Amino acid sequence: MNGPTGVTREDFASDNHAEAHPAVLAAIMAAGRGSAPAYGGDRWTAAAEASLRDLAGPAAVPLLVFNGTAANVLGLSVLLGPGDAIICADNAHFAVDECGAVEAMLGRKLLLAPAPDGKLTPAAIEAVLERCTDVRTPRPSTVAITQATELGTCYTLRELAALRELCDRKGLRIYLDGARLANAVAHLGCKVADIARFADALSFGFTKNGALGADALLLMTSDLAERAPYLRRQQGQLASKMRFLAVQISALLDGELWLDNARHANSMTTRLAADLEKLPGLRLTQPVQSNAVFVELPPAATNTLRKSWTFHLLPAGVTRLMTSHATGQADVSDLATEVAASLK
Ligand SMILES: Cc1ncc(COP(=O)(O)O)c(C=O)c1O
Repeated sequence: MNGPTGVTREDFASDNHAEAHPAVLAAIMAAGRGSAPAYGGDRWTAAAEASLRDLAGPAAVPLLVFNGTAANVLGLSVLLGPGDAIICADNAHFAVDECGAVEAMLGRKLLLAPAPDGKLTPAAIEAVLERCTDVRTPRPSTVAITQATELGTCYTLRELAALRELCDRKGLRIYLDGARLANAVAHLGCKVADIARFADALSFGFTKNGALGADALLLMTSDLAERAPYLRRQQGQLASKMRFLAVQISALLDGELWLDNARHANSMTTRLAADLEKLPGLRLTQPVQSNAVFVELPPAATNTLRKSWTFHLLPAGVTRLMTSHATGQADVSDLATEVAASLK
């Protein structure tokens, strides 16, 4: 949108609002000439899959899909057996923001656990398990978590290890929604494999990281790989012109552009949070651990800011401000200045 000076500036509504990275657009143009095998039989798809395996570990089986919702539905469909249910945070994206895709497409029940900071704990999972003692509730077989979470927080590797330990003890599988996995890796200073090894299947989001529209599902357990390609096809997620998804992912993986983009987005959020925290009367409601700030603003200030900025207002009156690879330092200082003015 245009700022007061008429210059185009980034908004703070979502990393989905951000432009595609120029390297991604150039890669699509370059792959567009000539014909190539369809449905992933091309060299670009093989290259993207190899790069994903390099990051997640040699046992990982990557499947490219169009978006994050599709990755979640496909990943969960691969993990669930007949009659199985999913334990997840009450604020998980697939529980509240995907139009019930998992319930509608897979016919599965989501067993919700409270997660005030977006993170499931072993105790919260055990409390759900205690409710599921007989055939009146479906059998929980899978715990689904999100990294980075819907509330911008990140599980530490130790927290992931504790969830894995519990799930192994209880015979549960783990699905990880990694729509913002890049931001979590940047925040934790770890490798993709350090997180991926705790999951049976996980998504790795590129759309929010600078792609035009391409995400990946990574299967971490070999027994899952056989059915997955069939399910992807049935769910309408096998791109005939797969090379155009693949080159987007490779453009971001080459030279670790994905990590630079995530580090940049996170650093813009850190800077914004620091500016906002200096303002009297403002409270950040969540620790800042990825690319989103959650802040309580007085309603009058929110109304003023809404005239010139786009951002999400959550039901509890909390404002979510999200940065991306394209957020500039000037965007952050402009917003912080206008927030300060709106409080006067
Ligand atoms: C955590 C998380 N998972 C999944 C998705 C779904 O991605 P898409 O809207 O591309 O399907 C989103 C989208 O914002 C998200 O925030």
